[in-house]
Amino acid sequence: APQYPRYTRAEVSQHRTPSERVWVTHGSDVFDVTDFVELHPGGPDKILLAAGGALEPFWALYAVHSQPHVLELLQEYKVGELSPEEAAPPPGDTRDPFAGDPPRHPALRVNSLKPFNAEPPPELLTQSFLTPNELFFTRNHLPVPSVEPGSYRLRVEVPGGRSLSLSLAELRQRFPKHEVTATLQCAGNRRSEMSRVRPVKGLSWDIGAISTARWAGARLRDVLLAAGLANKNGQEWHVCFEGLDEDASGTRYGASIPLERAMDPRAEVILAYEMNGQELPRDHGFPVRVVVPGVVGARSVKWLRSVEVSPAESPSHWQQNDYKGFCPSVDWDSVDFQKAPAIQELPVQSAITEPRPGAAVPEGEITVRGYAWSGGGREVIRVDVSLDGGRTWQEAELCPRPQRGRAWAWALWELRAPVAAGARLELVCKAVDRGYNGQPDSVEGIWNLRGVLSNAWHRVPVTVTR
Ligand code: HEM
Repeated sequence: APQYPRYTRAEVSQHRTPSERVWVTHGSDVFDVTDFVELHPGGPDKILLAAGGALEPFWALYAVHSQPHVLELLQEYKVGELSPEEAAPPPGDTRDPFAGDPPRHPALRVNSLKPFNAEPPPELLTQSFLTPNELFFTRNHLPVPSVEPGSYRLRVEVPGGRSLSLSLAELRQRFPKHEVTATLQCAGNRRSEMSRVRPVKGLSWDIGAISTARWAGARLRDVLLAAGLANKNGQEWHVCFEGLDEDASGTRYGASIPLERAMDPRAEVILAYEMNGQELPRDHGFPVRVVVPGVVGARSVKWLRSVEVSPAESPSHWQQNDYKGFCPSVDWDSVDFQKAPAIQELPVQSAITEPRPGAAVPEGEITVRGYAWSGGGREVIRVDVSLDGGRTWQEAELCPRPQRGRAWAWALWELRAPVAAGARLELVCKAVDRGYNGQPDSVEGIWNLRGVLSNAWHRVPVTVTR
């Protein structure tokens, strides 16, 4: 067998672009795939996501690669092997409250490491209708709790009822399993476009603080009825959730939704223990999280510790003094959080995931892809796309056809159109929902100090090359 040179992972990571050569590892082998990048059936942008590192986490997501001919093809590009003495990763700092956080997929674009907040790259976001769990956007406010599933208990408090303490097994066995395919979106999705107008406070999300999964769990309604909830008709009560995630002072994440939504069987609010057929990953709330379809992600509390029916909204900072929208003139001196309602249902949203801003696309036919979604289950009925900054419009194709009625999940869409070399295009998309609600044409009029509810027309400049 030929003798190959040995490399460290650090050396491999120096090779991330075609100009510095594109290297990847598979097992303990090192490959220089620079000449394959343009030939990749999945596109050059996707292969480059793995450049400088291991292929396995990416190939685990796209099963097309687990075929013998793919491995054979890869062997042609072998240039070396990893050094056997490759140092194990340094042990985590045990005083660091985030030291127990789980490992994450290398494709995620990290907005903040501690707490962990990250989004999938746009090129992968709309690759599939259901977002793979490893790529699902992650919005953590605090360290990820370590929960021993055998000793987990969910506390349920209902005034006038009995309080329940449910084990994971009881939650699974006592209540029928309900499945719902729902998109979750962070209130701060697309915040970075708002900060370009004027600075705002918050994580700089691009267009990927949104993802879709098939969730399964017990209906919240069934659990509240089992706890003896009496009829609260006509009264505006709330269901307050608290997570097991806490800061150094013991303050836990919390949020609430109106009781009316919790009890409406058509609203499909669940206490989920499965995500895309697997147990919940730690970053997404293991072992149990709330999923409130059609509502801002902040209410879908992870690592659920307690559920409490109350005449008042959750007293948590995140319910009272965050996740609210204001007039563009309101600043941090004049803001009064008590004056605005907490965001629940989100407005209609859409964005272009391909091509990326600044891309050079080849002449001939352009393919524009993206997502569209609206809060409250209002289905997206149309997505309009412009190639000329909004002067003229064409209707995109929705694929697959959106859910009818209670449309909790996004619609993915695509438009193909002829384009001539030399053109500079401004791609724009805007969606319309079942209520004929549309998106505002610019960010200026919806700017707010917290950078939430950013749903202006999405604009992507590209050039067309020969
Ligand atoms: C498809 C090779 C890296 C995403 C394929 C196919 C091959 C291939 C041969 C076609 C398989 C078939 O249909 O029989 C490779 C090699 C890679 C690499 C040699 C690295 C050296 C990646 C990475 C990603 C990716 C890092 C994702 C981030 C895809 C996708 C397809 C695909 C989505 C399906 C395309 C379609 O059917 O439309 N790849 N791949 N690949 N690859 Fe890769």
